Amino acid sequence: MRYQAVLRLAAVTAVLLITWGISINSFDVRKARSILRLNYEDQIKPTFKTATPKCNLSRACPPDHFAFYIRSGAANVIGPKICFDGKIIMSHVLNNVGPGLNIVVVNGEKGVVEKCGYLNMISGNPHDILAYLNAIKPGMIVLVASFDDVTTKMTKEMRDVFVGMGSTLITSVKHRDSWVFAGRAGAENKTLFEKQAVNEEKTNVYENWPDMVEVDGCFQRTITDGHEP
Ligand SMILES: *[C@@H]1O[C@H](CO)[C@@H](O)[C@H](O)[C@H]1NC(C)=O
Ligand SMILES: *[C@@H]1O[C@H](CO)[C@@H](O)[C@H](O)[C@H]1NC(C)=O
Repeated sequence: MRYQAVLRLAAVTAVLLITWGISINSFDVRKARSILRLNYEDQIKPTFKTATPKCNLSRACPPDHFAFYIRSGAANVIGPKICFDGKIIMSHVLNNVGPGLNIVVVNGEKGVVEKCGYLNMISGNPHDILAYLNAIKPGMIVLVASFDDVTTKMTKEMRDVFVGMGSTLITSVKHRDSWVFAGRAGAENKTLFEKQAVNEEKTNVYENWPDMVEVDGCFQRTITDGHEP
């Protein structure tokens, strides 16, 4: 009889100990999980959680940056391509590109494409072209790709608009040069995102045109100090 009582006591104790152990453990696990989750959400912005590279970049962009990719046209045959924040905005395939300056204008604060299109620099009206460029408001992110030729109707005033967006190369872009550019209207600094290929008979890839050029990267969101742009 006594032997059985001892056994039963031992069994009950064991069950109690095991239950207590499990509840301690699961409490710890739950607590640890919630701490991890809190830290994760505190330190890493939601956009970063499932970050996969956009626009075929090799790496995802950090928070408050937009991925972009710009490729110029090839000669007067293959249209340019402009990708912004993971979406192809203009391309030969989309059939919305044309000779001259292919432009995407983005609200730099919200990252929303405001307008896109091409300024026909071969047969367009210079007055309308300049008016379009002058209407781009400070803070806008501007992505540009050349196609065929961008200089036939180009004036000094038009070049100055791009200089005001951070371009340095536009002052030397000549007949049938390839040119890609990403800048910000009203920027004080020179952009890092700009390339040019010069039309030169000796180095041209296509008979009368140079090779295409491309540029990609992460463009920083426009910061407006809390004021409405
Ligand atoms: C990314 O690469 C894929 C496969 O090559 C291609 O279909 C797609 O158009 C590319 N996207 C951009 C933005 O170039
Ligand atoms: C221009 O660059 C300088 C030095 O890198 C930086 O301190 C300044 O904030 C930049 N200005 C603008 C408008 O981005």
